[in-house]
Amino acid sequence: MVHGHNRHWRLSKRIMLGILIGHGPGWTISLGIVVLILLLGLGCAHTRVTVEGQDRLPPSKLIAQEFSTTLRSELNKAIENGGPAGAIAVCQGISPRMEEQFSARYPEVLRVRRISLQTRNPQTHTPTVEEKQWLLSAQEAAQNKKPVEPGWIITRQKTTVLFPITINDPVCLLCHGEPAHMMEEVKTALRAHYPQDQATGYQFGDFRGALAIEWRN
Ligand code: HEC
Repeated sequence: MVHGHNRHWRLSKRIMLGILIGHGPGWTISLGIVVLILLLGLGCAHTRVTVEGQDRLPPSKLIAQEFSTTLRSELNKAIENGGPAGAIAVCQGISPRMEEQFSARYPEVLRVRRISLQTRNPQTHTPTVEEKQWLLSAQEAAQNKKPVEPGWIITRQKTTVLFPITINDPVCLLCHGEPAHMMEEVKTALRAHYPQDQATGYQFGDFRGALAIEWRN
């Protein structure tokens, strides 16, 4: 993509910093987009920044699909081999490895990772300030039974495309459900591997977090 890296561009980017764009959240955001489009339209005719988030959506979708299919089949394999408790140790290795693989395969992708408001692995899955805002509004929408659409965050350096993750399979509850209903071995394994675990207490259908794909601008 070609950007005019001029003053207006930088200014617009600064304005964009922290502005969250999604399909759901409504008028404030639409207004923000209109203002941005105007600013950019006036400032730099050759800049395609207004469609940057949208441009990143289709390739992000492919990555998201592949990521979740692969992770899910690895998870099922791990459960088959070692039961849910054994799978926890395996997961601890798979998840970061997959996150790295994807960023290595796509040179323009800075990082692929899962984020959550209630992390199991806070070292790698704690959201940024902007991501946290998006997660909060997505969670609220989900709680009000509204569909959560993918969203994106544009800052000066990167565009982050976010795909909601839902507890959409009963298998998730083996390791993220109500502690009272979870197997003792699973709870023991979680205490051993994730002493700071916050990722239990979910019900089927709950909003769990997002897959965040970060692109270099
Ligand atoms: C066998 C246990 C197990 C099952 C089943 C499981 N998870 Fe997890 N989940 C984990 C572990 C362990 C981690 C932390 C991985 C790491 O260290 O990066 C995790 C992390 C996550 C994260 C990343 C955010 C965080 O809290 O660190 C999301 C999102 C997530 N799981 C969603 C799901 C969903 C959705 C399902 C159902 C399809 C599911 N999990 C099924 C064990 C499990």
